[in-house]
Amino acid sequence: MTKTVVVIPGDGIGREVIPVAVKVLKAVAPNIELVEAEAGLETWKRTGETLPEETLELCREADAILFGACTTPEDPSAESPIIRLRRELDLYANVRPARSWPIPRRPIEEDFDFVIVRENTEDLYIGCESEVHPGVTVAMRKISEEGTRRVAEVACDLAEERGSDRVTVVHKANVMKLTCGTFKRVAREVIESRGLEFDECYVDAAAYRMVIDPGSFDVVLTPNMFGDILSDEAAGLMGSLGLAPSGNVGDDHGLFEPVHGSAPDIAGKGIANPMAAILSAAMMLEWLGMREEAEKVEEAVERTIEDGVITPDLGGNASTEEVGEKVLEKLEP
Ligand code: IPM
Ligand code: MN
Repeated sequence: MTKTVVVIPGDGIGREVIPVAVKVLKAVAPNIELVEAEAGLETWKRTGETLPEETLELCREADAILFGACTTPEDPSAESPIIRLRRELDLYANVRPARSWPIPRRPIEEDFDFVIVRENTEDLYIGCESEVHPGVTVAMRKISEEGTRRVAEVACDLAEERGSDRVTVVHKANVMKLTCGTFKRVAREVIESRGLEFDECYVDAAAYRMVIDPGSFDVVLTPNMFGDILSDEAAGLMGSLGLAPSGNVGDDHGLFEPVHGSAPDIAGKGIANPMAAILSAAMMLEWLGMREEAEKVEEAVERTIEDGVITPDLGGNASTEEVGEKVLEKLEP
């Protein structure tokens, strides 16, 4: 059956990298039907909404979503489209793989290949902040047993798929005894009930270990905010945010996006690295059951890097377009 994918380029470099990822998708999976939809700052300027109802409806009906990056307006009433999509579509697990790539100036010698599974709907991201006294502000942190259980199951599924026997739970239960305590306890129950080894690490120690010995990680399971921070660190280890893909997945929907943002500083220059968007499209293909196509895309990216056709963030001088063309060329048998 034909699959439908909603494509949301968004703002800034989202509009440069997503068209390249779309070309790759068309080449490798020509049967997918692509529907473009809008969201972000430019949409808000025109319509007063960052995520129009029509876009949300298209996303609900689609088999998957490919998302670029959106700038959130500074206006306090404007909501971040990606946070709203994660909530509305109940995309409770954010899967962020990190691996070493053959780039010229690797930040770290050691080879690594791990995946961060970030809880994606709770924690400080519930947006519950208030001023309790003049000049005193507080934020609420939500960690639920059910929210933890379901994301822990995703981490265990991934561990099984990767042939690993261990999941590392990253938390700070020595300080946040109740919230992180719940996360740790429930994650442990799930991991052990799945016959996997429970490993744990405080978030500060995990940040250190990720730089000193990234090869020691395999599947990392962590609450929302820690996962946000650690996944940027992991992207740094890879050499650039321009290489970091992600998948926001739930029981009924999957949204795939590069970890990087809309990068207004380099937008319009034609130098944004499209690889994170291309690799996100590959993750989407795999999630849609097209593993072979997904592997072909990842290989084509790797061979493009080996040929040195890379954007300035990786130490090269190729443009967004040139990288896209090379990846397409490498896809050909
Ligand atoms: C990410 C981003 C988002 C987040 C922003 C854009 C709200 O940084 O996907 O990592 O904090 O989750
Ligand atoms: Mn982030």
